[in-house]
This record gives sequence, C-alpha cells and structure tokens, in this order.
Amino acid sequence: MSRGPSLQLNGTGRLRHFLTIDGLNRELLTEILDTAEGFAGVSERTVKKVPLCRGKIVANLFFENSTRTRTTFELAGKRLSADVLNLNITASSTSKGETLLDTLRNLEAMHVDMFVVRHAVSGAAHFIARHAAPGVGVINAGDGRHAHPTQAILDMFTIRRHKGEFTGLRVAIVGDILHSRVARSQILALNTLGVSEVRVIAPRTLLPVEARSLGVHIYHDMDEGIRDVDVVIMLRLQKERMQGAMLPSEHEYYRLFGLTEARLAAADSEAIVMHPGPINRGVEMASEVADGSRSVILQQVSYGIAVRMAVISIIIGTQNQQGQDNKG
Ligand code: NCD
Repeated sequence: MSRGPSLQLNGTGRLRHFLTIDGLNRELLTEILDTAEGFAGVSERTVKKVPLCRGKIVANLFFENSTRTRTTFELAGKRLSADVLNLNITASSTSKGETLLDTLRNLEAMHVDMFVVRHAVSGAAHFIARHAAPGVGVINAGDGRHAHPTQAILDMFTIRRHKGEFTGLRVAIVGDILHSRVARSQILALNTLGVSEVRVIAPRTLLPVEARSLGVHIYHDMDEGIRDVDVVIMLRLQKERMQGAMLPSEHEYYRLFGLTEARLAAADSEAIVMHPGPINRGVEMASEVADGSRSVILQQVSYGIAVRMAVISIIIGTQNQQGQDNKG
C-alpha cells in the first residue's frame, strides 16, 4: 500500500489528500487545528455559511454505515458553500456490479473536486487517492481498522479546547484498540503534538501485537491505568469486526474496564471524558459518566464540523494554488 507524505502532500508540503496522520508533522496538525478554531464560530452565527468553497463539488462516498461522520462532513461542505453529493452506495451502481474505479470515473466526469471516503477495507481511501484524476482530493473518513484521521483531529481539537497545551498531559485510551482505526490515528496525533504520556488500557485479547511499538504505555488494569490522567478516551467494542469470542461477556468487560463515576475518581479531578460514538451505555461506560459534567462527548460532535471544514478548505486551497501555478 502506498501511503504517507508523498501521496498526501504535494511537492511544497501542502495537503492534497488527507488519508492518515502518519507522516504529518506538528506544524501541519497545528495548522488544521488553528484553521478549525476559525471555523468554530461559524456554527454560532445566524447565517452558518462562508463562501470559501463556492462552485466546488464534494462527494461523500460511504461504503460503510455512519451517522456522525457522514452528517458532519455534509454540514462541513455545505457551510463552506460547496455543492455536496451524498451517494447512497448500497442503492448505487456498485451493487449492480460496477467497479469502484468505474464509479470514480463517472463522478470525475461530473467534475467532482473531492471525495470523502469511508470503507470497511483498510487502504480503500489510499486506493482511491492513487487512482483519482490529478487535482482531485480524497479524505479518508475511516478505512477498516487502519485510520480515521479527521476523528483524531477533532479529538485533538477537543483536548486543546478543554486543556490548552498538549505538553504535560496524560491521556488514556481505553478498550478495543485491536479493531480501532480511531485509536491508531489518535496515538499518532497525540505523540506528534507532544503530550507527556499516552496510555492504552485494554484486555490482552483486544490489543494488537504491535501495540508496544506505537509509543504508548500499556495497562491491563483499568484502575491502575486511569490514575491521574487528564483525558480519558473510551472506545466502542467493535463487535462487527470481531471473529469468535474475544471477550468472556459484555457484563464481564464492563466489570473490568467500564468507566463508572467511582473509577473516574482515580483520574485527575479536572479530567475530561471522551468517546468517538456511538456509545454502548453499560458496556464501555455508565450513563451517569456519559451524561455527566466531565463528559465532552457531544462537544466532540460539534467540533467535528469545524475540523472537517478546516480539512476540506485546506485541500481546496492546495487545489486553487496548484491551478494558479499551472496557469502561471
Ligand atoms: C468511529 C468509527 O466509525 O470508526 N466512529 C465515528 O467515526 N464516530 C468509532 C466507532 O465506530 O466505534
């Protein structure tokens, strides 16, 4: 799989696709966060629109279910004044036998400027980016277990909004790391932005073998791992990606790893609680925590719009610059 900076960045280091956090430096991640900060206010206006991407076409290609990610991408495109196409893939031609590349070529014939892709197969967004026409941007909205870079950036945005600086923070990511594209992208982003310590807390069966090489401290005991952390990120059990019994039972999982008020008391007294959604109440966390004063789970959803506006507008900016360079 060809991935990394050569595919995502153009010759001058500008973002032309957004596929993975891997290979992006702190300056670029900070530029996205700062740009999103500028857009966060747009949602509070009476007219929630800016004209930055007027005349551009953004196509949402969701081959896997999604509620939050798809709708916030749709709103992000619309708030930038782009024309947004939502393809209902299950009802479209791919289910009639058309290949992914044929679908892509047909959309390119309609002069689509950007594809937002979610797919159950790891590497799908990279595949589309490699085959897209020059000048067409691709954003990865989650591919298999591999990456979910806009989710990671909106999580970083949430942490920065609530905690200020990244340096000095201890962050714990709890749960099904093995199947989580979100965890992989978060770990890369947290380490790039320079937090003091990233912990993962998980049962042995839900940790990937390469976990130690990710630059994290590993805990199998929730009460130990959560001690003194500033941020607790809970993950969903990805049952749709599990083969066979990886856990004794959900009840047992909750008993050992579920986030309750009592457990949260061991974290820093100002600690925030995050979750990318959808939440399984009573499996990953107690409702009293999900709805409690430390929870920033709904803020994450709102920030997702600003962050996706930032990524779309930065890539469109690269395209506009490229267009001018080609003319000049
Ligand atoms: C995540 C995903 O789809 O990877 N959700 C999301 O994008 N909001 C995490 C999950 O499904 O558990």
